[in-house]
Amino acid sequence: MYRVACMPGDGIGPEIVAEGRKVLDAAGEKFGFDIEWTDYEIGAERYLKTGELITEDELKELSKFKSIYFGSIGDDRVKPGILEKGILLAIRFYFDQYVNLRPIKLLPGVSTPLADKGPEEIDFVVVRENTEDFYVGIGARAKAGKQRDELEVMRNLYNVRFGIDVETDADELAYQIGVLSRKGSERVMEYAFDLAGTRDKKLTSVDKANVLTEVYGLWREVFEETKKRYPDVTTEYNFVDAITMWFVKNPEWFDVVVTPNMFGDIITDLGAMIQGGLGLAPGGNINPKGTSMFEPIHGSAPKYKGKNVANPLATVWAGSLLLDHIGEKEAAAAVITSISHSIEKGAVTKDMGGFMKTSDIGDWIAKDILKG
Ligand code: IPM
Ligand code: MN
Repeated sequence: MYRVACMPGDGIGPEIVAEGRKVLDAAGEKFGFDIEWTDYEIGAERYLKTGELITEDELKELSKFKSIYFGSIGDDRVKPGILEKGILLAIRFYFDQYVNLRPIKLLPGVSTPLADKGPEEIDFVVVRENTEDFYVGIGARAKAGKQRDELEVMRNLYNVRFGIDVETDADELAYQIGVLSRKGSERVMEYAFDLAGTRDKKLTSVDKANVLTEVYGLWREVFEETKKRYPDVTTEYNFVDAITMWFVKNPEWFDVVVTPNMFGDIITDLGAMIQGGLGLAPGGNINPKGTSMFEPIHGSAPKYKGKNVANPLATVWAGSLLLDHIGEKEAAAAVITSISHSIEKGAVTKDMGGFMKTSDIGDWIAKDILKG
């Protein structure tokens, strides 16, 4: 029996997670295992009522789980950043989920904006570093003449670099720092090399070492060193700006791509689009030795909440990543096969050209798994 923590969250979260659970339960039935779900009520509703995001006690309790199944968070009534940082990033950081695994795979029958590309060409995985870089949360903002503590830090930054006197010249200043560590870079690269070893043995590293020479210079150096231990894997570099072009023009060049956090955030939205849009893009936040979390990479789409129209496929797919992670490889593959069947048969929601409701999709896929 597997114990999985479940956090449906805000907006369409509860509707799409309900479908994902139907599918995972069916996969369990088919392949001979049980999932015991434990629900956690996190998100905007609770925050607005109690001011709580996620508590230290809950985080401690969650550390007993190997996996968390996560829906989405975000709500118009809450200032942007509060739920994202206070829940999603809090979980990623607390559990040190240093790998953000994002498959970019075009399933048969899905339309892509890349006119001359199909499932043969669009099939790679982005391994996004998930704990460092510009996400470390070090920065400040201050108005000149006020907030003296912040200005103290900025005095050096601005005075030395630009000759700006922060007390008088500039009316408002802000800075944010990207931090990488050798260990933090190395561990995610090792994960990516291992993954490439199970696929086409090709790994592309993304950086901007030509301009941001300190942080991404370190990244590149660590990549150089790490690759020596993986002689079977072919490697190359892409600058982040260039890789956005190649994703569009030659997606078939890529097998596994390893990237620092923020570039990974950006290029995986591009990746999501070429595999058919955010409705089909799953992600796994993985700590190979701890608690991992699986989620669709899209948001909570508050305007579709409760309408039974949201596309649950990204969440179902995230469920497949969860199964794969806990070692139920066959079940994980069966989920993807049945997602494909649903697409081929047009058993999809309106955004994908179908006529089915959110709540029909899980049933359809679950049934397909059981008969498959
Ligand atoms: C993602 C999201 C998050 C990120 C936000 C919501 C914090 O965009 O999972 O890609 O930036 O990582
Ligand atoms: Mn993102």
